[in-house]
Amino acid sequence: MAKDLNYSCTACGATYSKWSGKCDGCGAWNSIIEDQPLAAGPAAKSLGAKRGRSVALTDLATEEPEPPRTLAGVEELDRVLGGGLVKASALLLGGDPGIGKSTLLLQAAARFARNGLKVIYFSGEESVSQVQMRARRLGLTKSPVQLASATNLRDILTTLDSEKPDLAIIDSIQTMWADNVESAPGSVSQVRACAHELTSFAKRQGIAIVMVGHVTKEGAIAGPRVVEHMVDTVLYFEGERGHQFRLLRAVKNRFGPADEIGVFEMTGKGLVEVKNPSALFLSERGKPAPGSVVFAGIEGSRPMLCEFQALVAPSPTAQPRRSVVGWDGGRLAMILAVLDARCGVSFAGLDVYLNVAGGLRISDPAADLAVAAALVSAREDATVPPDSVIMGEISLSGGLRPGSQTENRLKEAQKLGFSSAILPQLRKEVTGAGLSLRQMEDLPGFVEEVFGPGPRAAQE
Ligand code: TYD
Ligand code: MG
Repeated sequence: MAKDLNYSCTACGATYSKWSGKCDGCGAWNSIIEDQPLAAGPAAKSLGAKRGRSVALTDLATEEPEPPRTLAGVEELDRVLGGGLVKASALLLGGDPGIGKSTLLLQAAARFARNGLKVIYFSGEESVSQVQMRARRLGLTKSPVQLASATNLRDILTTLDSEKPDLAIIDSIQTMWADNVESAPGSVSQVRACAHELTSFAKRQGIAIVMVGHVTKEGAIAGPRVVEHMVDTVLYFEGERGHQFRLLRAVKNRFGPADEIGVFEMTGKGLVEVKNPSALFLSERGKPAPGSVVFAGIEGSRPMLCEFQALVAPSPTAQPRRSVVGWDGGRLAMILAVLDARCGVSFAGLDVYLNVAGGLRISDPAADLAVAAALVSAREDATVPPDSVIMGEISLSGGLRPGSQTENRLKEAQKLGFSSAILPQLRKEVTGAGLSLRQMEDLPGFVEEVFGPGPRAAQE
């Protein structure tokens, strides 16, 4: 028989058969607590004694009707949800404390309420008057959203049972407390138990439940992944301190595409949709400078232009720095190695800094070529044509591949006034949206075409 794993770490969720002072999983001290069984009584006993009933079976061809959806009327939100809010679903909204989750949900609650849903907002973090104050600031006091300050899960479920809303918002899952679980609110067992109860309630009663989850220092929702697998949809609300824009990103969605993003701006009157994010991210672009390159990217189904900036300088130390903000550090190391090995452009003895302007984080693999262009441009002190956008994936051999949705990228570039695109050789016919397309064979060919023929001298 498998050992009972009755202890778990409140920081990372690792499970143990006995208590210890330090978690081997994440290194935290005093974070391991004993888990209580989720349901005392029959569920905890062996299943053997009592017969269940047999469940209904169907085949793959029988079509289930599409689940009913309600639109918020906020395009950025509806798209991320996969085309509106689905009935009988559970959704998790994660994000750093203070990023604007409560603001987003209060605004969304008001929209859904105005569109005919019965909405209840449970706050476990703020008093009713605090939430009302925020509603006043956001100009939402006339919206028919019901409000309560509560943390006891039993009370909340009873209220939901009698009120029968269409949508309930739980802000946040870490403050909820199920009285059949002995550990403190926010611990893995509490979060797990509360999320499980709420999710199954949502399915049973046909209501949509949105849970807020704060992200811990390590970047996972506490307890990490404990909730993510239970719910239908996981959204993250992201942003950089010091920047006004916020990204809503779907990382899992049973009712629509994942990786879809919505862009908002935090203003004095709450969150406002950003209909044209490319213009926002390029707005701070100054005069053409070495190291600056515009990348025609795609996030989800959304074309998004942004600027990569690179700086290369002689390193005062024996171990040159590689510093990157908004992109993947491992990927940067790879691009530097490919430039060195395939194009003879060496960065040995040079500090390299790479930054995505505006505080954006790029995950699109087609950013490789834009990064390479920014790096060589900075090293050679030569500008890339400022009316060009760049895109393409780089392989270890120095080969180039076009990314997905080339036409959408080109259309967006054309909309923002660019006249040419530098990209890998296209394998099929693509309408260039009026842009002149400079197609490159491979990375050495690209470097030579854009920056002139080598050999490239080592920098002082
Ligand atoms: P909040 O929604 O409370 O964050 P979370 O629920 O994710 O912890 O948002 C907090 C921040 O948003 C706070 O620093 C103030 C700012 N804010 C605005 O800038 N404008 C507004 O209209 C509101 C309501 C908040
Ligand atoms: Mg909040």
